[in-house]
Amino acid sequence: MNGGMSINEFKRSIWSHYRTHGRHALLWRKPAHVHDPYRIFVSEVMLQQTQVSRVEVKYPQFIKQFPTFRALARARTSEVLRAWQGMGYNRRALNLKRAAEVVVREYRGALPRDPALLYALPGIGAATAGSIAAFAFNAPIPFIETNIRRVFIHFFFPRAKKVRDETIMALVRKTLDTENPREWYYALMDYGTHLARIAPKNPNRKSARYRKQPAFKGSRRALRGAILKSLLKEGAMNGAALAHVLQEPRERVESVLEELCAEKFIVKGRKGFSIAE
Ligand code: ADE
Repeated sequence: MNGGMSINEFKRSIWSHYRTHGRHALLWRKPAHVHDPYRIFVSEVMLQQTQVSRVEVKYPQFIKQFPTFRALARARTSEVLRAWQGMGYNRRALNLKRAAEVVVREYRGALPRDPALLYALPGIGAATAGSIAAFAFNAPIPFIETNIRRVFIHFFFPRAKKVRDETIMALVRKTLDTENPREWYYALMDYGTHLARIAPKNPNRKSARYRKQPAFKGSRRALRGAILKSLLKEGAMNGAALAHVLQEPRERVESVLEELCAEKFIVKGRKGFSIAE
């Protein structure tokens, strides 16, 4: 640890920044959204891996098109993937729909509060289970995501080399505002975003989990996205046609198609591959 920063000083800094620079206007922090667990569920899954400025555009459209767990559970996968276009990591959209099906079937359309039950839903890891519990239910659950990690490393480990999440978690627990966890996590995330903008080097480079983001262009992930986009547009296509329009080696396309079939994103039919129902 740094030695200089006490727990109370730390808390004061975070709250003070939040009072003057907090992003109080974010749509998913407004009462009509905060008090609807479905909306918090959708916004947190979106915010996992997509920047706030893009979520601000897509989230209201998605909520309008699929206003409840039931509406999302009933929708066609192709409709949901189409609404997700531009967000990246399409598996999140597929999992979101599957999670909605579980919520409807097992919980009569009402999201459970227990983080262990949230964690059991498709596509929900520890961080998202924690953030949903905190934001939708104001539950004092300790969790770490990228912005929170950045804040704790910045304040408590300025000279460390490899900080483990378990070490950070002890401080998350120690500093958690159990009276108002929702607001406290807003404040932490806003400080984390602020640091991402102003820090000359990302403090998260000092996390033991830090990995450099691989390039998107030419990646397998890019090809997955391109294949799904073509199938959404054309309805059904075979491997040869996809390889031709995407200007990709046939084997590479077939290998991704196999993977998408295994994940039940797409199905193979008479006319070729198409988005699963
Ligand atoms: N406000 C509520 N949840 C958020 C998140 N995951 N990222 C940024 N701001 C948020």
